[in-house]
Amino acid sequence: MGKKLLMVVVAVCFLFVMIGSGFAAEKKGNQRKGKYLFRKNCRSCHIDGASAKALSPNSKTQAQWDRSFKKYERLQCVDEWKKLSKKDRADILSYLYNHAFDSPTPATCG
Ligand code: HEC
Repeated sequence: MGKKLLMVVVAVCFLFVMIGSGFAAEKKGNQRKGKYLFRKNCRSCHIDGASAKALSPNSKTQAQWDRSFKKYERLQCVDEWKKLSKKDRADILSYLYNHAFDSPTPATCG
C-alpha cells in the first residue's frame, strides 16, 4: 500500500511540473536575434530617457508587450518599426516577452 501511495505522490508531482512549465508562457521566436535587433534598432532612442523613455524587457509585463506590439501603429516611433520585417518584429517581441517584468527570467537590456 505504501509503495502505491508513493507512486501516486510522484505522479502528482510530475503532473504539477508539467503544468507549471506549460504556464510559463514563452514566445518561440529567435530571442538572441531579437535582443540584437532591439539593441540595434530600438535602444538607439530608448536608452536613457533623453530622446525617448528607456526601455528594457523588464519595463513591461508580458501582456503589456503583447499589446504594444499589436498596436505599434499608434506609437510615435511607428516609422522605426516599419523599417523592420514582420519576422524581425516577432523576434524582438520574443526577447522582450520572454524576459518581461512578470516572466520567469526578467532582464534589463544591459
Ligand atoms: C528614432 C527614435 C526611436 C526609435 C529608433 C524607436 N523609438 Fe520607440 N519611441 C520613440 C519616441 C520619441 C516615443 C514616444 C515618447 C516615449 O514614449 O518615450 C516612442 C514610444 C515607444 C513606445 C511607447 C512607450 C511605452 O512605454 O509604451 C514603445 C513601446 C516603443 N517606443 C518601442 C520601440 C521599439 C520596440 C523600437 C524598436 C523596434 C522603437 N521603439 C524604436 C522613439 C523611438
